[in-house]
Amino acid sequence: RIAGPCGIVIFGVTGDLSRKKLLPAIYDLANRGLLPPSFGLTGFARRDWTEDHFIEFVRENVMAHCRTTFREDTFRQLASGIRFVQGSFDDPAAFARLSDTVSELDRQRGTRGNHAFYMSVPPRAFPVVSRQLADCGLAKSADGAWRRVIIEKPFGHDLTSARELDRVVSEVFDPSSVFRIDHYLGKETVQNLLALRFANMMYEPIWNANYVDHVQITMAEDIGVAGRAGYYDGIGAARDVIQNHLLQLMALTAMEEPVSFAAADLTAEKTKVLSAIRLPRDLAAHTARGQYAAGWQGSEEVCGYLDEAGIDPDSTTETYAAIRLDVDTRRWAGVPFYLRCGKRLGKRVTEIAVVFKRAPHLPFESTATRELGKNAIVIRVQPDEGVTMRFGAKVPGGTAMEVRDVSMDFSYGRSFTEGSPEAYERLILDVLLGEPPLFPTTREVELSWEILDPIEEFWSTLGQPQPYRAGTWGPAEADEMLARDGRHWRMP
Ligand code: BG6
Repeated sequence: RIAGPCGIVIFGVTGDLSRKKLLPAIYDLANRGLLPPSFGLTGFARRDWTEDHFIEFVRENVMAHCRTTFREDTFRQLASGIRFVQGSFDDPAAFARLSDTVSELDRQRGTRGNHAFYMSVPPRAFPVVSRQLADCGLAKSADGAWRRVIIEKPFGHDLTSARELDRVVSEVFDPSSVFRIDHYLGKETVQNLLALRFANMMYEPIWNANYVDHVQITMAEDIGVAGRAGYYDGIGAARDVIQNHLLQLMALTAMEEPVSFAAADLTAEKTKVLSAIRLPRDLAAHTARGQYAAGWQGSEEVCGYLDEAGIDPDSTTETYAAIRLDVDTRRWAGVPFYLRCGKRLGKRVTEIAVVFKRAPHLPFESTATRELGKNAIVIRVQPDEGVTMRFGAKVPGGTAMEVRDVSMDFSYGRSFTEGSPEAYERLILDVLLGEPPLFPTTREVELSWEILDPIEEFWSTLGQPQPYRAGTWGPAEADEMLARDGRHWRMP
């Protein structure tokens, strides 16, 4: 579907997220013909730039990230609706100028009063920007046009601060017009998890405690925190990605079939899972933290976290986190979900591995690996998006019945010629269309903090996280955590 007449205003338009993701996503939407010809894009920033300078800035960033899709005519059409407003968040005059700019877009381009406001800014700026939008009359429209606000994570740093943020934003915007971005929900492979589970007959009958031994959800990154020290230090891996991305992946993996894919139905099922999550009784035994030390990432020698520019040399922030969670439902009783994430790990990979119980009896001569007979379905979220199934097969030749684990692969790249749109493309378009199913609700955000807060509180008493060498798979603590349960991490 194509968005109707509308515009978007980006606060924090010169920042990292905007340059790398938002501007390229908007360009790609325009290029795919999904934005109306009247579309308006307004940047709001402190820099003393002219409109032409800003247009050049957008062009450079779009060209850098959309090398294969860049077309001059698409860009020119988009650029004719680009505006720039210079100012700081505490300056009412700047918001008055923004209001004039938006009205001018309505009159001259035909955006018809429909506007989205993207807060690509730290959460501490949400209250002031929201109030300014209310004061200058942009937060609500009197004539039936829509106004929507897009909030980027982190949604607070604990339950209390998340509630406070929500209170401030909902004083200004109607709850139905607040869209919280969790970009993992915009990824094709994450949505494919729902197709896999609910469009097929063969997975659901075994997707439960009768057959599943445990689930591992991994989000490994090879990058460090260079360039993002100000945001990351003091936040750490768990608040950065477990509270949002990984708990959302877990909810989608564990939830019951929704009545439909409408927002309310999907949220109802995810909320049930998040409400049923139980923390381990012994947090010391079933959680692990690490912090990367110097090492090698491929052929590049990289510094440790404490030596990164902008990081407090005594920082106790974790760059690796692993936790065990259980789900108290009939479907999942006794099936642990192990979540792990980290920076500067062996490679960049996100996957959900559903590991099945061993066959009750193995009448074969050789059990070549300790994994033999343990089937697995692995949803490869990225890179190399697809699904792998692992099972045992007879080794050819010989008289003995030797069985070895093999895998069967579905790869997006090989099966579909259509390229996958970037997550931000899908999510920005959904905001402009007013379709909320892929955005976490306030309740989901609160439940996720309720899960994480006790763990963070426990970790805050521990001091320094265990170091791990950059380029490895994390601290020994994390291996010991699974070994205690008689299991081990998969090597993705
Ligand atoms: C963000 C985190 O939400 O996700 C970053 O704040 C992380 O720390 C990023 O690097 C990873 O996103 P992706 O889409 O590259 O997996």
